[in-house]
Amino acid sequence: MKTAIYPGSFDPITNGHISILRRGLEIFDRVIVAVAVNPEKQGLFPIPERLDMIEEVIKDIPGASVDTFDGLLVDYVINQGSNVILRGIRALSDFEYEFQMALMNRKLSRAVQSVFLMTDYKWFYVSSTIIKEAAELGGDINGLAPASVARRLKEKFEANRKAAAEKKG
Ligand code: PNS
Repeated sequence: MKTAIYPGSFDPITNGHISILRRGLEIFDRVIVAVAVNPEKQGLFPIPERLDMIEEVIKDIPGASVDTFDGLLVDYVINQGSNVILRGIRALSDFEYEFQMALMNRKLSRAVQSVFLMTDYKWFYVSSTIIKEAAELGGDINGLAPASVARRLKEKFEANRKAAAEKKG
């Protein structure tokens, strides 16, 4: 059984992420979607909500599971009995960041390998950040994220707007 860890913020999960997950499962027997706890980056969705959304969208994908971790990624990978970090890569702009992370992870542990899959062209422009921005401004993001995620984004921004209006009086 070969397990890969697919780490990220997943705030929220997008169709691009799901594509990488599915393609990862063509190479590995199990892929754990690992949501990183970053105390410095609060994000839009609290971790339990991100896990909920991921659970819902991966429930029919054999071999996929979801978890959360804090601390060093390489330690988590090893604790899970894995030696593979799976990441998707989109454009040149992703490359520098991914290269730096892969080298840092390699410096931290020679026992862990980083494996990259190039995104499908359909998801080239899709990121959690850009769909959040579009959804916040009322844009239609259907087709870019699972329907359940699109619905939760809408609800989240509506709740945030309501809370801001109530605060204002
Ligand atoms: O989806 P993201 O935000 O690009 O994911 C970044 C993530 C979570 C993979 C990265 O920040 C990470 O690995 N964090 C865990 C802490 C860690 O191990 N840092 C040192 C290696 S860069």
